[in-house]
Amino acid sequence: MDNLIAEAKKARENAYAPYSKFKVGAAVLTGDGKIFTGCNVENSSYGLSICAERTAIFNAVSAGYKKFTKIAVVTDTEPPASPCGACRQVIFEFGDDIEVIMANLKGDVKIKKIDELLKDGFKL
Ligand code: THU
Repeated sequence: MDNLIAEAKKARENAYAPYSKFKVGAAVLTGDGKIFTGCNVENSSYGLSICAERTAIFNAVSAGYKKFTKIAVVTDTEPPASPCGACRQVIFEFGDDIEVIMANLKGDVKIKKIDELLKDGFKL
C-alpha cells in the first residue's frame, strides 16, 4: 500500500493543473502486481480536462491490463480527497471490490471499497 501511495505521489508531480492549481496523482495496482500511474491533465477548454484516476486506469488498460485490486489517489488536502463521480464509475467498471486508497501529502490515509463509494453503479 505504501508503495502505491508513493507512486501516486510521484505522478502527482506531473499534474498539469494551471487553471485549478489542484494537483492529483493516482496509481493503480494490477492483479499481477504491476503499477500504472496517472495525473490530472487540464485544458483551456475546461471540460476536456481529465482526472488522475482515469488517466491511471486508461494508461493501464492501454497497456493491456484490466484486472485491478487497488487504486491510490493523492492530493494535498485535509482530509484526503475522494474520487469524483465520473472516476468512481470508471473504477467500478473494472470490479466492485477494488480498494480505493485516499491519501494526502501529510500521510493521512482513508480506505474504502469502490462499491461503498459508488452505490448501485451502472453496469450493462
Ligand atoms: N480531479 C482529479 O484529478 N480527480 C478527482 O477525483 C477530482 C478532481 C482534478 C480535475 C481537475 O484537474 C482538478 O482536480 C480540480 O477539479
